[in-house]
Amino acid sequence: MTAIDVVIMAAGKGTRMKSRLPKVLHRLAGRALLQHVMDTVAGLAARRVIVVTGNGAAEVEAALSGWAQAGGRERPVFVRQEPQLGTGHAVQQAVPALHDDGVTLILNGDVPLIEAATLQKLVASSRGERLALLSVEMTDPTGYGRILREGDKVLAIVEQKDATEAQRRLREVYTGFMAVPNALLKRWLPRLSNSNAQGEYYLTDIVQLAVEGGAGVVAVTAADAIQVEGVNSPLQLAQLERAFQLRQARSLMEAGVRLADPARFDLRGRLDCGQDVEIDVNCIFEGRVSLGDGVTIGANCVIANASIAAGAVIHPFTHIDGEKTGVRVGEQARVGPFARLRPGADLGPEVHVGNFVEIKNSSLARGAKANHLAYLGDSVVGERVNYGAGSITANYDGANKHRTVIEDDVHVGSNCVLVAPVTIGRGGTVGGGSTITKDTAPGALSVARGKQVSIANWQRPQKKPR
Ligand code: UD1
Ligand code: CA
Repeated sequence: MTAIDVVIMAAGKGTRMKSRLPKVLHRLAGRALLQHVMDTVAGLAARRVIVVTGNGAAEVEAALSGWAQAGGRERPVFVRQEPQLGTGHAVQQAVPALHDDGVTLILNGDVPLIEAATLQKLVASSRGERLALLSVEMTDPTGYGRILREGDKVLAIVEQKDATEAQRRLREVYTGFMAVPNALLKRWLPRLSNSNAQGEYYLTDIVQLAVEGGAGVVAVTAADAIQVEGVNSPLQLAQLERAFQLRQARSLMEAGVRLADPARFDLRGRLDCGQDVEIDVNCIFEGRVSLGDGVTIGANCVIANASIAAGAVIHPFTHIDGEKTGVRVGEQARVGPFARLRPGADLGPEVHVGNFVEIKNSSLARGAKANHLAYLGDSVVGERVNYGAGSITANYDGANKHRTVIEDDVHVGSNCVLVAPVTIGRGGTVGGGSTITKDTAPGALSVARGKQVSIANWQRPQKKPR
């Protein structure tokens, strides 16, 4: 096995993004472009990963260190390129961090969908002794470096701005990925010049140096174009996002998931599905979500970091976000429409949560129902509890959060305030409109509101004559 060093170029400005955020930190499917590249590289068992930063260097390096830490991985080596004098100049900065033996794999930080298998193929094609380029045929090659050949033999890469009319008609382009034996790279890099149309040190000029020096050059073609597409503008970012989402939608559908419309589906993370899962249009899944057998998701739901058990139905316009804690929805539960489940919501089997109900850090046991306009926070709700419309737990006293316990078979009427800490005893009833501040005994009816007064034959005020 060839030992691999990786150089990721991420110093460029990304002018066409017209953004204050460094280009490589823009997000695709919820992850920064550079994070996609880093995650792919993690599968290569490289001995060293070097990231060349320049524009927004501090921000890019901080983001990378953060991901490495979160993923329990080693932080890459950062080298700064200031000013940015071209791709050849960028790799020159990395030379002191490169080993003398092995192969260096050069990647672009703004090409997010490259796959590890393609990179492995590139390294294998170099055989540790040749320059291996990743190329692709493009219907519109405008802007890319063209691969010049004589028969099968690669002669050079010529950049768009330096190319002749005839060269510009060539449709085989260089993708920005190459594998180079370190010994050769270190020999060639000092020989680059900047006498070209852009006054830059082109990394691509090493092809000519390789040919002149008699080293072999091979061009490996990429399996699909999406893998090598770069992001330069908001339009390209959106197009790549759609292409990526479509690819994810297809693979879910191949696994049997029924998406109402694969063009209106977004997954920004990981989605695991059982059998016979149905997802209506315009749903967004983030973080880690799992859907058990027969789960149905209605239109326009946003679901993040949640596990939804078999047979559960999530009605339209429901927002679920478990953040770091997670949300669990039990078997055959019904949620929504317009429900909101926040971190720590833990719904048991056959629980019903209806419209405009918010649940945070609370468990609801089997068969409990909160069907309309309610809030449950920091609560433990027993089996078969019925929690009335407009009722809330007052769980926060302005400084601390407190727990509410509602035992099995309790019936809480409409518009109640349960002031925590408080326990409603098993089988008890709370009269509508009550503000409950003290624990209630099992089986008791508790009413805590002004007594009704009715005055007979009440005369309402009349309008004064003018
Ligand atoms: C480069 C290739 C071109 C290829 C294309 C594929 C060169 C000279 N040309 O062109 O043949 O078809 O990629 O996308 O290499 N960067 C730095 N420092 C610099 C300049 C660039 O780190 O001084 C980084 C950028 O952030 C980017 C990458 O290098 O990640 C490529 O730079 P870019 O300017 O996009 O190169 P292209 O002109 O597109
Ligand atoms: Ca580019």
